[in-house]
Amino acid sequence: MSNSKQWQHAQQAEGEYWSGLTAQEEGIRHVLQENREVAARISAWLPVLPNATLEIGVGGLGIGALGFLKQTSLRVGMDPLPPPPLICGDSLRAVVLSLRKSVHLVTAQGERLPFPDGSFGLVLCSNVLDHVCNPQSVVAEAYRVLQPGGYFYLAVDVFSFAGLVKWYLWTRWRRKKEILVRAHPYRFREPELLYYLCSAGFRLINKNEVSLAKRLCGRSWDCLTLAQKPADLNFGGRERH
Ligand SMILES: C[S@@+](CC[C@H](N)C(=O)[O-])C[C@H]1O[C@@H](n2cnc3c(N)ncnc32)[C@H](O)[C@@H]1O
Repeated sequence: MSNSKQWQHAQQAEGEYWSGLTAQEEGIRHVLQENREVAARISAWLPVLPNATLEIGVGGLGIGALGFLKQTSLRVGMDPLPPPPLICGDSLRAVVLSLRKSVHLVTAQGERLPFPDGSFGLVLCSNVLDHVCNPQSVVAEAYRVLQPGGYFYLAVDVFSFAGLVKWYLWTRWRRKKEILVRAHPYRFREPELLYYLCSAGFRLINKNEVSLAKRLCGRSWDCLTLAQKPADLNFGGRERH
């Protein structure tokens, strides 16, 4: 199957997931809590937040981590799927809508961001890269739309070698009808992710560390990175033409 066909299948599963979630209060609260934690981590890593921030793959609530980064004035959330109608109870609905109000939503694909070069001081991409059509293009687009000196927060599940073997030989077949498999066209090892960042021109600023045991034979873990587009592109940065 081509990458594009595989991605369309994955997005169909993604659409079903978010439409179903909008009726489940516990699920909505869980997504909000996870994104609140992402925002707290970003604020801890970047105490002074830039004014203009973009979140790639903001998710079906239309809030993402952006909705919790109140210190940044321009917040743009993009996703190929527009948020489905909310069918939860009134009080939770009011919470979701009030968080969403601060986010300017754009329907687009991360591989072709509809923004000029250097538009943002911070780009986030959390739990998205293994869902896209072309991960390397998404990282390159994040680089393009960042201002020199701007930051890229990239978080995604990565697998140990053993975990990846299990994924391809067992999980992908055994659980092929489940969202876990349907919505993930890609699975990565950490070096692959770091290669994408480095080949786009980013400099790695911060990354969470995990134990050797987990690296060798753990199933998967959340790889959390903060990278920077060099401020002076004549010294080590990569300008794209
Ligand atoms: C697992 S959800 C994560 C949403 C949100 N970041 C969160 O953590 O709650 C993955 C999201 O990536 C989006 N996505 C899939 N392909 C994409 C692409 N090519 N460009 C941007 N976003 C994409 C999906 O539509 C979905 O909303």
